Amino acid sequence: MLELKDLSFSVPVEIDGEVQEKVIIDHLNFTFEKGKFYAITGPNGSGKTTLARLVMGIFQPTGGKILYEGQDITNLSITDRAKMGIAYSFQHPARFKGLTFRDLLSIASGTDDEEMILALLRRVGICSFSFLDLPVDAKLSGGEIKKIELATTIARNPKLAIYDEPDTGIDLWTINPMVRLLKREQLERGTTTIVVSHNRAFLEVADSVLIIVKGQIAYQGKLENALTMLSDMSVCSYRHCDKCSGEEDAECYR
Ligand SMILES: Nc1ncnc2c1ncn2[C@@H]1O[C@H](COP(=O)(O)OP(=O)(O)O)[C@@H](O)[C@H]1O
Ligand SMILES: [Mg+2]
Repeated sequence: MLELKDLSFSVPVEIDGEVQEKVIIDHLNFTFEKGKFYAITGPNGSGKTTLARLVMGIFQPTGGKILYEGQDITNLSITDRAKMGIAYSFQHPARFKGLTFRDLLSIASGTDDEEMILALLRRVGICSFSFLDLPVDAKLSGGEIKKIELATTIARNPKLAIYDEPDTGIDLWTINPMVRLLKREQLERGTTTIVVSHNRAFLEVADSVLIIVKGQIAYQGKLENALTMLSDMSVCSYRHCDKCSGEEDAECYR
C-alpha cells in the first residue's frame, strides 16, 4: 500500500567552511503491505524520523518517489495525504495553548458529540479522563502529551498510521497497554501501522522489523534474526559528528 522507490533526502550542511550535501535517506526502496504492523528501529540519527516525515509530506524528498495505494503522492501536501488516510504521530508533539485534549479529539475525529468522544476515550483506553478538559500546554508532562498525540492519531481512523517513538516518556504501566492498543487497531481496523521504536515490546508484535542504518534499510524481516543482527552491529557511540564512519573510533571523537 506504500511504496518507497529510490527515496533520497539530503540537506546542505557547512563542514569546515564548505557547503556539502549531507545524505540522510539514501536511495531507499521498500514496500509496506496493507494491514501489516512494521517496527522501525536503528541508531539515533539514522534517519527514522526523516523517513516518517517524508511519508507524511512534512519534508519533500530530494530524489525518488512515494506511492500510496498505487498513486504517486510524492508532490502532495500534508493535508492531501491526511485526507487520503495517512496520519503521523510526532516524536516531539506540539503543545497548543488554549486548546484542550477534548478540542484536539473533536478536530481529529470530526465530532464534538460527548458520547462519541467518550467512546473514543474508551477505545484508546490509555488516556486519562482527568486531562480531557485541561489545556494541552506546557503544564502537561512529556508522557501525557505523547498519550494525547497517540489518541488524536487514532481518532482520525487512519488507513496508514505512523507513530514516531510513541513510548518516549511513557511510564512502565502504560507501555504494554499502548502496544496492545496499536496492535488491536491494526487487527480490528486493518490499520497499516508503522512504529518507530527502540522498545522490544513493539518489535515483538510487529509482522516485520526494519533496521535503518545511515538512511538505508540494513535489515528487514523477523525479530529473531533482527536481534542477532543488532547484537553483531558495531555502532560508534561518538557518532554525532559529520566525520563518523559509524565504527567505534576514539580518534574521530578527538
Ligand atoms: N533538516 C535537517 N537539516 C540538517 N540535518 C538534519 C535535518 N533533519 C535531520 N537531520 C539530521 O539527519 C539525521 C537523521 O535524523 P533523524 O531522522 O531525526 O534520525 P532518527 O529519527 O533516526 O534519530 C540526524 O543526524 C539529524 O541531525
Ligand atoms: Mg527520531
